[in-house]
Amino acid sequence: MTLTRAAAFAPSNIALTKYWGKRDATLNLPLADSISFSLAELGSLTIVAPQPDLAADEMVLDDKPLDSAGMTKVRRVLDEVRRMAGSDVKAGMRSVNTVASARGLASSASAFAALALAASKAYGLDLDLPALSRLARIGSGSAARSVHGGFAKWRKGDAADGQDSYAEQLWPASHWPLRVLVAQVRDGKKEVSSTAGMQHSAVGSPLFTAWIGQCERDVPACQEALAGRDMRKLAEVVEGNALAMHATMLATRPPLVYWQPATVAVIHAVRRMRRDGAECCFTIDAGSSVVVLTSAQDSRPVAETLSEIAGIEQVIQTRIGEGARLVNADG
Ligand code: DP6
Repeated sequence: MTLTRAAAFAPSNIALTKYWGKRDATLNLPLADSISFSLAELGSLTIVAPQPDLAADEMVLDDKPLDSAGMTKVRRVLDEVRRMAGSDVKAGMRSVNTVASARGLASSASAFAALALAASKAYGLDLDLPALSRLARIGSGSAARSVHGGFAKWRKGDAADGQDSYAEQLWPASHWPLRVLVAQVRDGKKEVSSTAGMQHSAVGSPLFTAWIGQCERDVPACQEALAGRDMRKLAEVVEGNALAMHATMLATRPPLVYWQPATVAVIHAVRRMRRDGAECCFTIDAGSSVVVLTSAQDSRPVAETLSEIAGIEQVIQTRIGEGARLVNADG
């Protein structure tokens, strides 16, 4: 078995229908399917260097050693790689977010997809996309989708060992070349992590069972709206799904309130612009920032309107992009 230094880039992804609820918390097996798109440029670059003299795995994330909760997830991925490769060599790792200022975008999805690809290469494995997606999922559920470019669907699967729980590409980015605007909200508050928030909602929200039922209806409707490039239908499903997830979070005891006033202002602005004829819709993850999808034609006026909203720190403009790929480990 040849060990080598390897590096990979993986994109951040944004869910159109959300993953918020697990049937297995160790393997990150979800209770419902979810659909996402991957972002161009925004993501993580991760380098893995197996080192026989290391006593334990080490990971530096954006120039800081990773905390112990993060390290537990990294070790789960690496242990699986070592099991498949028949190796017990530990690794030194570095991961950076390519756009450091993109706060509010989930970085764990891109970081674990990049880790899965770089680590499998570093330990001499040649994994196909389903295997790579399963491996990334062990680190963070949503990372299963960051393996792919364009639009992806993560099937929840039924098997107890997670073999059938991985993401597949639905369409490449060229299918519907929408623009993506990330309206970052100034808040400075530390948010509850997705891992913890999901667990709290499952046990403490009276809306949780209804939420999972809603996802089961929203996933096929979302896929149909994407197939027909139908923005009106997409807006209804995607906004409804995000709002239903936040309703579930808000109803949790104790409540999970991720929104700031600017979050609500963006919701109203997007709905108003759509009523006035612009092609746009919003979604919100477990945070206060809002991601807006818009047509190429409407992207500039929509971005200008969003950047004028009080409490919006910056509006990042990007596109739907490609999937995870290996890059030069020395560069
Ligand atoms: C709101 O994938 O970060 O972004 O599996 O515990 O690591 P873990 O959770 P994570 O949750 C993402 C939650 C979300 C919705 C989504 O991306 O589908």
